Amino acid sequence: MSDHGPAMPMTARRAGPLTGTADVPGDKSISHRALILGALAVGETRISGLLEGQDVLDTARAMRAFGAAVTDQGGGDWSVHGVGVGGFAEPQDVIDCGNSGTGVRLIMGAMATSPITATFTGDASLRKRPMGRVTTPLTQFGAQAYGRSGGRLPMTVIGAAQPVPVRYTLPVASAQVKSAVLLAGLNAMGQTVVIEPEATRDHTELMLRGFGAEVAVDETDDGRAITLTGHPELQPQTIAVPRDPSSAAFPVCAALIVEGSEVLVPGIGLNPTRAGLFATLREMGADLTFENERDEGGEPVADLRARFSDGMRGIEVPPDRAPSMIDEYPVLSVVASFAEGKTVMRGIKELRVKESDRIDAMARGLEACGVMVEEDEDTLIVHGMGPGGVPGGAVCEARLDHRIAMSFLCCGMAAQRPVSVDDAGPIATSFPVFEGLMTGLGADLFRPAS
Ligand code: S3P
Repeated sequence: MSDHGPAMPMTARRAGPLTGTADVPGDKSISHRALILGALAVGETRISGLLEGQDVLDTARAMRAFGAAVTDQGGGDWSVHGVGVGGFAEPQDVIDCGNSGTGVRLIMGAMATSPITATFTGDASLRKRPMGRVTTPLTQFGAQAYGRSGGRLPMTVIGAAQPVPVRYTLPVASAQVKSAVLLAGLNAMGQTVVIEPEATRDHTELMLRGFGAEVAVDETDDGRAITLTGHPELQPQTIAVPRDPSSAAFPVCAALIVEGSEVLVPGIGLNPTRAGLFATLREMGADLTFENERDEGGEPVADLRARFSDGMRGIEVPPDRAPSMIDEYPVLSVVASFAEGKTVMRGIKELRVKESDRIDAMARGLEACGVMVEEDEDTLIVHGMGPGGVPGGAVCEARLDHRIAMSFLCCGMAAQRPVSVDDAGPIATSFPVFEGLMTGLGADLFRPAS
């Protein structure tokens, strides 16, 4: 069990304009994958710009437990000496993935086709989240999984001694499930096929190819079919991790709602499977420009410039865009509170099984800040109050969820009265420099006594 220390309340007060350059940390999804694929290659993979957030550090520790040599070389540079596909050793102790659904689900996939047993756990948030979505396909490879009721952690996975490849259609749009199946397929002789009816982030496919695996992607009537040929010899790589668009979302959205702001967020990964928020913000009328668009290490990257936008209007967010902005709905709902008219977000029931039930967490916190919201199982509707129109003056629950904590702090930067979160500790899982970075731009954040 890895619950972090005492709660760390934090408050954001309305401040002057946010100005300057925001160097956000490396991409969380790509960082996890770089460590895991590095551990499955033979030889030394070098990673620069790794996110040194707690989620990724927990994955680094897990890779060591499975036998890889993972070294922090300072300044975001890391080295991984991998053990090869099928080379994982059996961990001597429980694997604690902390707060990270991506970490635990991808690692379960990576070990499920090796003849070893591992027991996984995590913090109080992760122990509530469903693991059946990955163990169902993993058992088709021949693995076994025994967890608590509802497929919750702690859970023991017994890897398949003689894995067979799998053909699996994703029942939910989840890059974690897709990735778990592909990673398991590495050690199954033959072709493993994953079909995703809705495209989700494709970092695993791109990186597998980069490491030398044979991965074919076909658009079919049933969706994207990804075919991996098992038993590749993965070649170690040099990986430059782009900066995380999901972290960039916070300084960008804060700049849009705090009067007079102009913030530049350089070097942001803009893989189309991740960039839905920025399209949505532009449709709302946000003054957001992409500069210096380029390709870095196979991923599209640009510098984002966000300026205070007092003419934003609520829109209907197309539900088919949800997978490309799934982590950004909490902060979008804050921007929506400062727009004119209502913003309708449908097709988002996956938010209910994230680090927290994000529809409920945002609805209750926004209501406490004086914003009118409507919700159902799959929908959140926010009635905007216009620029500067949100009363604020509330303490919102973060619910062990980094993105909920950061979203409400962004709300407090523009609301009439301060907004607090009961615990900003989880922010360290994905954006450990959030407080200093936002303060450096001019935000007024402080830690009241708990
Ligand atoms: C992730 C996939 C998404 C996302 C998570 C990171 C990944 O989860 O919410 O933050 O790196 O594969 P789902 O696969 O559950 O949609």
